[in-house]
Amino acid sequence: MKIAKHGPAFLLSILLSLSWTGLTCAQDSILARTPPMGWNSWNHFACEVSDSVVRAQADAIVATGMKSAGYVYVLIDDCWQGSRDASGHIRPNAKFPDMKALADYVHSKGLKMGIYSSPGPKTCEGYAGSYGHEEQDAQTYADWGMDYLKYDLCSYDGMGDQVAAYKKMGDALKKTGRPIVYAMCQYGMQKSWQWGASVGGNLWRTDDDIRDDYYVMSELGFGQNGLEQFAGPGHWNDPDMLEIGNGGMTTDEYRTHMSLWCILAAPLMAGNNLVAMDAETRALLTNPEVIAIDQDPLGIQGHRIKQEGPLEVWAKPLNDGSIAVGMFNRGWGAMPVTIDFRDIGLGNSLALRDLWAKDDLGNFREKYTALVPQHGVVMLRVKRGT
Ligand code: GLA
Repeated sequence: MKIAKHGPAFLLSILLSLSWTGLTCAQDSILARTPPMGWNSWNHFACEVSDSVVRAQADAIVATGMKSAGYVYVLIDDCWQGSRDASGHIRPNAKFPDMKALADYVHSKGLKMGIYSSPGPKTCEGYAGSYGHEEQDAQTYADWGMDYLKYDLCSYDGMGDQVAAYKKMGDALKKTGRPIVYAMCQYGMQKSWQWGASVGGNLWRTDDDIRDDYYVMSELGFGQNGLEQFAGPGHWNDPDMLEIGNGGMTTDEYRTHMSLWCILAAPLMAGNNLVAMDAETRALLTNPEVIAIDQDPLGIQGHRIKQEGPLEVWAKPLNDGSIAVGMFNRGWGAMPVTIDFRDIGLGNSLALRDLWAKDDLGNFREKYTALVPQHGVVMLRVKRGT
């Protein structure tokens, strides 16, 4: 018979390829296989969110090219809840007349829909949380067609064991049978990165709330170093949502925000008003080569490889063997930043591409220096040179 003619090596290669196919299939069914991307109402609209706001943002995600760039989740944050009915079912407030119809609308655009609750009796803004109603709420979200839940500690703080509380909702979501991305939010308390995946979490906040301010954003982003071992396909560290386009930072600062979040393999949840987005904001949010760093299938979170005062170099290994490198200047005034190729680990001759300039810089030996603007970044993709 044919196989026998090829001998044991051939059989082994068939077995290996079969198990590889099995592995690939198993991996492809992972929820949030790459960091989730979308839009969340909180950073811009806070409690001014409503059915019409969400519909308009969903329209704008498509019209602006955000959807094509990968932003598919439309997330309602706090302030949508009304009261519970006689049998305990949560109902939306008057600003959301029909949650299922809204989810259907979002789905009709080829987008996914998400919602927000708390393990405590109240959300951070004082609306009804899921305490005592976990299974009922998870089923309601599934019935409405939700694809994502952000579960925010809020009033549960101090009430009991966070691991048990987050597991309760994780189990309830699983029980619905609907694939619902589970986003845990306890601001980095109790080192959630160590146990988040075990309770079903697909992402977990690692720190306090972001603000539209360079110093807050950079403290959060650069503070992620060391957490990289806890991230991977299906389970991500979340340094919080994007503020790009909300007006509180310079273009260089927002470029740092986007570059750093992508090197961190962070979830990318835009938090600006997409209906009024200018061309510069859109370019920052939708650069395909930068987003490809975030969405790289290997799912490795980058880390700092060098620091000299306010100058930092970060690296993220990529699926094709190349490496994303961020050269950051956290100081005042433009400053030269140098990468020493010995710190990269791909040999001493490297071919560099500048991802924001969309420019192949060519081959360099041993080191490369770029002038980096104040609070800015030069972001490269580097591979072995010729
Ligand atoms: C907390 C969260 C924020 C947002 C608000 C809503 O502060 O960290 O991301 O969800 O609650 O009240």
